[in-house]
Amino acid sequence: MALFYLPTRIVTGDGSLESLGEVAAPLGERAVLFHGRSAAAAGHLEQAVTSLRRAGVAAEPHLVGGAEPTLAAVQQAIEQLGRCQGTVVIGLGGGSILDLAKAAAGLAPLPGSPREYFAGRPLEGPGLPWIAIPTTSGTGAEVTTNAVLIDERTGAKGSLRSDSWFARAAILDPLLTISMPPSVTAQSGADALCQALESFVSIGAMPVTDALCREALRLLGPNLRRAYEDGQDLAARRAMHYGSLLAGMALTNARLGAVHGIAHPLGGHYGLPHGLICGLLLPYVMEWNLPACAARYAEAGKLMGLLPPEPLEEKEAAAATVAAVRELLQSIGIPQRLSELGLRELNYELVSSESMSSSMKHNPRPMSEHDVANLLQRAL
Ligand SMILES: [Fe+2]
Repeated sequence: MALFYLPTRIVTGDGSLESLGEVAAPLGERAVLFHGRSAAAAGHLEQAVTSLRRAGVAAEPHLVGGAEPTLAAVQQAIEQLGRCQGTVVIGLGGGSILDLAKAAAGLAPLPGSPREYFAGRPLEGPGLPWIAIPTTSGTGAEVTTNAVLIDERTGAKGSLRSDSWFARAAILDPLLTISMPPSVTAQSGADALCQALESFVSIGAMPVTDALCREALRLLGPNLRRAYEDGQDLAARRAMHYGSLLAGMALTNARLGAVHGIAHPLGGHYGLPHGLICGLLLPYVMEWNLPACAARYAEAGKLMGLLPPEPLEEKEAAAATVAAVRELLQSIGIPQRLSELGLRELNYELVSSESMSSSMKHNPRPMSEHDVANLLQRAL
C-alpha cells in the first residue's frame, strides 16, 4: 500500500507574492514573518508586508540568519512569536528559513523545549498555521512535513516531522529567485536535482511520486546550468522553481536515499552547506546504486536531456546518466571531493553510524555503515 498526502494550498505564478495578504487573512490576524537579509535587500520583504497590511493582517518582520537552523535559533523564534502574539507564521527565504519558520510554528503551542522534541518527545497537536514563500529553488521545504535542525551542542543534525507541520499555503513566485547569486543557484539547484533523483529511485516511490519526479527531472535537468549561467533567464528560473516544488512534493511522500542519509551528519559535524554536500555526494551514490536501478537512471538521463541522441542499452544509458550528472554538477562549481572543501580527515565511524536514518532506509540498494565509510573514503 502506498499513501500520498499533501494538504498545502499551492499558489504559483510570476508576481504571486502579491497574493500573500489574501492567503494569510483567513489564517490569522497577526503575522510574524521570518526572513533573511537578501529578502529585505531585494525588496521582497516590503512587498510581503504591504500585501499583508492591505489585507488587514498585522505584520511583524523578524530578521534571522540564513544558516541552517539550530535548536537555539528555533527557541528564539518561538520566543519572538510569543512576544508578538503571532497567530500566523510566515517564512520568506531559502530552505533554512522555511525550516526555522516551520519548526517554530509547529512547536510554539507545545510545552517543553525544542531540545526535548529533538530527543524524541512525540509531537502532538497542530502547530500554528504557517505560510512558506521560498526565495531559492532547492529544498522543497514549502511542501514537506519535516524541519531539519542542528543541535548546536553536538553538531548532530536531524529532522522533526509531523503531518500537521505542512504549510497551510506555499507561494511559488519565480520572480523572487532572480536575485539569487550563482553559488546559491548551484547549491540549491543541486539539492533539488538530488531530491528528484533520490525520490525517483526510492523504495517508497509510487505512481503519484513517479509522475512528480518525471516532470521535476524534465524541468531541472536542462535548466540548472542555464539558471546558473544567467540568473536573469526567467524561463530557466521558472523551471527550477517549479521543478524543486515537484521534487519536494515527491520526497515528502516517497522519501529520499543515501545522499541525504550521509549529507545530514556530514553537513552537521563539518559545517558544510546542505546543497553543496548533496551535489558532491550524488554521483558517488548513483554509482553505488547502479546495479539496483539501472532502468530508472536510464529513464532519468533521458528526461533530463543529458543523454546522446543515439539509442543506448539500458546499462550503458544508466552509466552515461551518472557521468552526465557528475559533469553537470562540476560545470556549476560543485566540488567533486571533500578535500576541495578543506577537509583533510573524517570521523568515518561517527558519520557512518549517524547516516543510518530514514533516508538511508529508502535507498534502493542497501548500504551498511562499512559501505558508507568506503564511499566517504573515495569522496575525500
Ligand atoms: Fe535536500
